Amino acid sequence: MLACADAPSTTASASLDAPPPPERVVRDGDLVVVVEGFNAAVAERVRSGGVYASKYGTFHHDDWIGRAFGARARERDGRGFVWLCAPTPELWTKVLEHRTQILYAADISLVCAEMELTPGSVVMESGTGSGSLTHALARCVAPTGRVWTYEFNETRVKAAKEEFALNGISEYVTVTHRDIERDGFPKEMAGRADAVFLDLPGPHKCVGSVARSLRPDGVLCSFSPCIEQVQKTILEMKKHGFADVKTVELLGREYDVEGKRLQRDLSAPLSKATKVGWRKDTKRPRDAPVDDGDDNVMTQHVVTFPRQRLQSHTAYLTFARLVPEPEGWAKTLAERSKNGVGGDLLARAAEVLQRNRRSGRDSPAPRAPKAPNKNMLSNPGEYSD
Ligand SMILES: C[S@@+](CC[C@H](N)C(=O)[O-])C[C@H]1O[C@@H](n2cnc3c(N)ncnc32)[C@H](O)[C@@H]1O
Repeated sequence: MLACADAPSTTASASLDAPPPPERVVRDGDLVVVVEGFNAAVAERVRSGGVYASKYGTFHHDDWIGRAFGARARERDGRGFVWLCAPTPELWTKVLEHRTQILYAADISLVCAEMELTPGSVVMESGTGSGSLTHALARCVAPTGRVWTYEFNETRVKAAKEEFALNGISEYVTVTHRDIERDGFPKEMAGRADAVFLDLPGPHKCVGSVARSLRPDGVLCSFSPCIEQVQKTILEMKKHGFADVKTVELLGREYDVEGKRLQRDLSAPLSKATKVGWRKDTKRPRDAPVDDGDDNVMTQHVVTFPRQRLQSHTAYLTFARLVPEPEGWAKTLAERSKNGVGGDLLARAAEVLQRNRRSGRDSPAPRAPKAPNKNMLSNPGEYSD
């Protein structure tokens, strides 16, 4: 099960007086992310009598049961080892079965932050694909919120349902078979979503439906590999009362940080041992000390190198907020009231906007300091000024 479902409560240990959370232990039937080394991890379901075999050796599941998550598990003959990690949405993204292209941690983290997801949020997503993003969304909104995810490929819907159940997130996620570009989001969702995420070939086709589904001030995020998709989607956003539009492309660069012996005085002559040591450096066992006899010339430093390979283009992330401009507002309001859902809320939001606009014109005098606003941490189910 993923951490959002059964992790020991961290709120209980948030106070330093409370005892630390109990150790999480591997049980029969658990999902374990077996980490074999840098960037090498595999998902494994633990079964009594089961065996995990890799180039690092043959491991018996029975030896894992009862061990704490995070433990280093050795082969029975004591040679190879692996780490037994508790599944998290981040680790799941690394090990899941790719049924489609997926979102990775860098994009996922920005998506969750910009969509302002908190426990209790209601978020809609299409398509579901391999469910990489869905796991992260579920953890953000659990335990009181919900993810509604829509996918038009039936096989993927079935696979996602099974996986969400096995990973313990189906309590927070509903997967539905639906063609969102053709049919839009369901009418009964009108005005209910705090955020909507689109990873579709034609996101521009459903922006109108997203506008109907979001609450005022809700956030839309569209993830598109091609800039032409972005252009079309932004045009639609402008038509449907979205503002605060921004497009981002994340290109990450990693750094190597390591200890190195460097020559302090470049004019000082170096001994032969040092020069030979440099050439042989790669063959030297990692922890063995370098004996070059030039301590007065060489000193140990921490050096950093930017990696040559950047995290390359994944997609453009376009974010926009449903804060309709005056001319777009009336139309959206009329359309949404016609559907009979969310009209109340919208009418109140319209009043607030109008009042704010009026008071901005009529009272140029500086305003009295406001009481602290509590909306930052609460899920704004209510639209307040
Ligand atoms: C790139 S994948 C989504 C990957 C997902 N974000 C993840 O992180 O795993 C896009 C998905 O959208 C689905 N899709 C394409 N057009 C659709 C439509 N009109 N309605 C619903 N789903 C659609 C595809 O079947 C595919 O599974």
